[in-house]
Amino acid sequence: MTALTIPGLDQAPVNHERLLSWVREVAELTTPEQVVWCDGSQQEWERLTNRLVEAGTFKRLDESKKPESFWTASDPTDVARVEERTFICSREKKDAGVTNNWMDPDQMKATMTELYRGCMRGRTMYVVPFCMGPVEAEPPRLGVEITDSEYVVVSMHIMTRMGDRVLERFSESEDVEFVPALHSVGAPLEPGQQDSTWPCNEIKYITHFPEERLIWSFGSGYGGNALLGKKCYSLRIASAMARDEGWLAEHMLILKLISPENKVYYVAAAFPSACGKTNLAMLEPTIPGWRVETLGDDIAWMRFGEDGRLYAVNPEAGFFGVAPGTNWKTNPNAMRTIERGNSIFTNVALTDDDDVWWEEMEGQPEHLTDWKRQDWTPDSDEKAAHPNSRYCTPMSQCPILAPEWDDPQGVPISAILFGGRRKTTIPLVNEAFDWQHGVFMGATLSSEKTAAAAGKVGEVRRDPMAMLPFIGYNVGDYFQHWVNMGKEADASKMPSIYYVNWFRRDPSGKKIVWPGFGENCRVLKWIVDRLEGNAAAEETAIGRVPTAEQLDLSGLEATREEIEQSLEVSLPEWREELPLIEEWFDTIGEDLPTSMRDELEALKQRIGE
Ligand code: GTP
Ligand code: MN
Ligand code: MN
Repeated sequence: MTALTIPGLDQAPVNHERLLSWVREVAELTTPEQVVWCDGSQQEWERLTNRLVEAGTFKRLDESKKPESFWTASDPTDVARVEERTFICSREKKDAGVTNNWMDPDQMKATMTELYRGCMRGRTMYVVPFCMGPVEAEPPRLGVEITDSEYVVVSMHIMTRMGDRVLERFSESEDVEFVPALHSVGAPLEPGQQDSTWPCNEIKYITHFPEERLIWSFGSGYGGNALLGKKCYSLRIASAMARDEGWLAEHMLILKLISPENKVYYVAAAFPSACGKTNLAMLEPTIPGWRVETLGDDIAWMRFGEDGRLYAVNPEAGFFGVAPGTNWKTNPNAMRTIERGNSIFTNVALTDDDDVWWEEMEGQPEHLTDWKRQDWTPDSDEKAAHPNSRYCTPMSQCPILAPEWDDPQGVPISAILFGGRRKTTIPLVNEAFDWQHGVFMGATLSSEKTAAAAGKVGEVRRDPMAMLPFIGYNVGDYFQHWVNMGKEADASKMPSIYYVNWFRRDPSGKKIVWPGFGENCRVLKWIVDRLEGNAAAEETAIGRVPTAEQLDLSGLEATREEIEQSLEVSLPEWREELPLIEEWFDTIGEDLPTSMRDELEALKQRIGE
């Protein structure tokens, strides 16, 4: 064997045999110019952000407006997660199930090894040790991302606990486990070649090997494809870990609701992308005396505590939020968080005085540089910010951050909400009869495609537990795991499950009838009043739904008719819904747990079909 000498390779700050041999193996395959072991320090942040500014990738924002913050624009073809290029490479195809792309792991590794060969030529290979969730957790959920992207390293500074603060956990013992996560933008540089501001490759692979707890990503520099601690580790790989170890890894926000009597409730909620998790997580209640604090806006890991209750932690340390539509009215706490600086803005518009702007933000300027780095004025036909443009900002800056956000024990969850975007059929809020019925609600969760996405507008897509693109194994087994979680537990200690819909329209289909945003606290209040036995509900065919009288609507600006429309349980609409659920269950076929079929039959009976 040729012992390659790559500068930095031997300067590992930790003694962990498996880690060192993996790093050496990757360096020998990808042949970078040098290896840098990341420490997570302020100096490292400054060195790398300066380098990104010099390369033209980053533009430093005005210190007085967004201190220590940067604007960047990606390659126009590299703007979002690429679900068609995302693979679950379990050994058996059956274990990936009908909702995932699958390829044989050996075949995938052979293909990707050739792509990785020499792919870091002319670049620096960074080794980023990180921990998802609190560093003091038992066991700590460690990972190491190898990447050739400085953008990824500085984003990992914000989104994860990383660097020296987690190395101690690696050195505790030789067999401390970690998830190896390999990433390359796939753009080697020849000597003297000018780098592009956003290197990436036309060929993209986002690949998971669930049995090995291994991630390989190639060709993209963008968020969910490249920050491998997020969707790849904390949802796809973690969901497989969770199945094996008896916990849940979910696409959920975590919020803390405080009543006027100072009673505290923790709520987790799963909505598909762009359906309002970040908004609800930072809600400003409109009912006097009620307060909300935030623990997470995208991912929740939940496991049983010693008292038999389900405890949640947020594995992340930052918010990677959709920028367009975020403003002082819809999400003032997100605006306050980013104002404190230390943030990265990707694919939003840049103002002439070095600040950021996006659609629906207050104070639209007369001139901007848009996300394609072109001049933009209000009469331009195109949007100034890409619809999936994002802010990346530290959670610690959120003014309503719950102090216990970093507690390794997590917080006990009282209620789980599922929700999506539906013009019809789904009432504002609906309480499950029991855990299994709640799992059925999650398993049949649906949302409408918006005009921005490909496909027929308004078309209903099933998005089970808002996890469709994130379940790292067979969807039928995933439902069974949810059912089992309820069986293992004392039912009285399990969270109650609710199905919510902020997006119901009036009969004309034009107007969303529920005011939403801060007013959603009225639904949260009804839910905790239910938990306390202090609120009534109507028993309907689909679950327990409040009447307008049973909600606190004092001071709400909406007509009685609109509220009633938002709460309506329409049996004709449900008769149209049943075949859609049936069709979805048929695509899962024999992998579907019989309990889910039973729930569907029971629903049919109650509806009178
Ligand atoms: P990811 O971060 O991609 O997982 O998505 P998310 O669930 O965090 O979505 P986000 O909060 O960014 O969704 C924002 C979209 O939902 C915007 O179009 C908002 O206007 C809309 N939205 C959020 N809350 C409400 C609400 O209560 N009512 C209505 N009508 N729209 C809402
Ligand atoms: Mn979000
Ligand atoms: Mn998400």
